[in-house]
Amino acid sequence: MKVILTENYNDMSRKAADIIKNLLIKKNDAVLGLATGSTPIGLYKYLIEMNKDHVIDFSKVKTVNLDEYIGIGPDDSQSYRYFMNTNFFNHINIDKNNTYVPNGLAKNLEEEGRRYDKVIADLGGIDLQILGIGNNGHIAFNEPNRKLTAGTHVTPLTESTIKANSRFFDCIDDVPKTALTMGLGQIMKARKIILVASGKSKADAISRLLHGKITTECPATMLQMHNDVTVIIDKEIAEKLK
Ligand code: F6R
Repeated sequence: MKVILTENYNDMSRKAADIIKNLLIKKNDAVLGLATGSTPIGLYKYLIEMNKDHVIDFSKVKTVNLDEYIGIGPDDSQSYRYFMNTNFFNHINIDKNNTYVPNGLAKNLEEEGRRYDKVIADLGGIDLQILGIGNNGHIAFNEPNRKLTAGTHVTPLTESTIKANSRFFDCIDDVPKTALTMGLGQIMKARKIILVASGKSKADAISRLLHGKITTECPATMLQMHNDVTVIIDKEIAEKLK
């Protein structure tokens, strides 16, 4: 696993955006796996700037997102589809028909999981997957558990994740309790993975990801078995790892 130490959140975001830029310059129809949450917002801002400056072009790029809350529609401001539109897609020259997010309103959610995996397969797989990490070591919404699921599936969210995500809602009771998420098997199939993390609350999870025993109780540790992972962390995390 390659680790890049950066000065701060901006530097982390810039370095991640540069890796994506280099891929898009080489392969302008790449399939990008995208994440929501606070951490990737900075790197999306850099990619938006690069697109405005004509350094990178998204007209042929396809994107697949990691996850979506169940029971929330695309126009709901709390949905991950809405998040992606407002933080990224609305500001770049991407064709929204080429952007995929699981449908949290699907009548048959198991079927939706299978459909989503087929979408990814039909696109030829993911060239580069961007990941954040939960304080408890979750990746996408693969929460610590006795077993993990390979494909896109329905999952309950843990108390810790519901609490962490409540900062985006009026009150904790409004946070959905279930989500559709890509599974670890699907994520591990991405040809390249970049994981971004900033702030000391992530230090424990990063320490386990880099040096811990591989266990389903810390899903991020599974990434130790992937052959092209770059972990980009800031100084606050690096200092706690010493
Ligand atoms: C989001 C996702 C989550 C987040 C994680 C960290 O699509 O899959 O795993 O990456 O919860 O979130 P932030 O970046 O808000 O700390």
